Amino acid sequence: MARAPQVHRTVPALRRALETFRAAGDRIALVPTMGALHAGHRALVREARRRARRVVVSIFVNPTQFAPNEDFFSYPRSFAADLKLLGDAKADLIWAPTTKVMYPEGFATRIAPEGAALAGLEDKFRPHFFGGVTTVVAKLFLQTGPDFALFGEKDYQQLRVVTQMAKDLDLPLKVVGVKTVREKDGLAMSSRNAYLSAAQRAAAPALYRVLRQSAARIRKRETIASVIADGRREIARAGFSLDYLEARHALTLQPVATRKDGPIRLLAAARLGETRLIDNVSV
Ligand code: PAF
Repeated sequence: MARAPQVHRTVPALRRALETFRAAGDRIALVPTMGALHAGHRALVREARRRARRVVVSIFVNPTQFAPNEDFFSYPRSFAADLKLLGDAKADLIWAPTTKVMYPEGFATRIAPEGAALAGLEDKFRPHFFGGVTTVVAKLFLQTGPDFALFGEKDYQQLRVVTQMAKDLDLPLKVVGVKTVREKDGLAMSSRNAYLSAAQRAAAPALYRVLRQSAARIRKRETIASVIADGRREIARAGFSLDYLEARHALTLQPVATRKDGPIRLLAAARLGETRLIDNVSV
């Protein structure tokens, strides 16, 4: 039977536990999550285990990355099921602070990322988001002191922003991106997929299908502008309300006009009813 991971809820208890790992000379990999875990998170833990002897998973639904009109209060929370998944995946330690522990009375410091964080993608529709993410992720890094931190490629802009932050702040760890895990029909795994009605769930794979088709056309040297214009129309025709479909430089996230400006990443965000889906592919 899988051994249950230790669960810690205060910074001193976390640090004591991590000291025993370090004293044994073990490397540590951190998987930051907001819980509601699925096969995508399991893949992050698997990659973490490949890289380090000890795997720490944080579970914290971070209020500072949600706007007041967003789903912080209704965000899926499933701690018992998460614990079971992490036990089966052989994680060693779960770091599950309360909001008071993460943001105690008087908390007054916030990171303000620039560069990829202001690329006009997620930041355009969720201006609060990357400040909240980088602040909490910097705290998670400092609390756990990992050698590696694993993030899914599904949140591609987040991966680029966090990678840049670790570099800019000289944080001594390697940020690792892990390939998106998909349902059989191509839909990227996401905790928010649970919000989709049956009809929306049936429509949802169109987002990935359009991204893949668009990438294939760009690889065949069709003009980026016309491929993107067609893709936008197709996504709308599939029943989505489109926030963006963009071709960007895969590292800087700056706009690209031709393949020579690459490597290229196609990124999209679109809503089915109230549910906002994001996805991306490389060209
Ligand atoms: O991707 C997520 O689940 C969150 O944005 C993260 C990185 C755990 C920060 O709260």
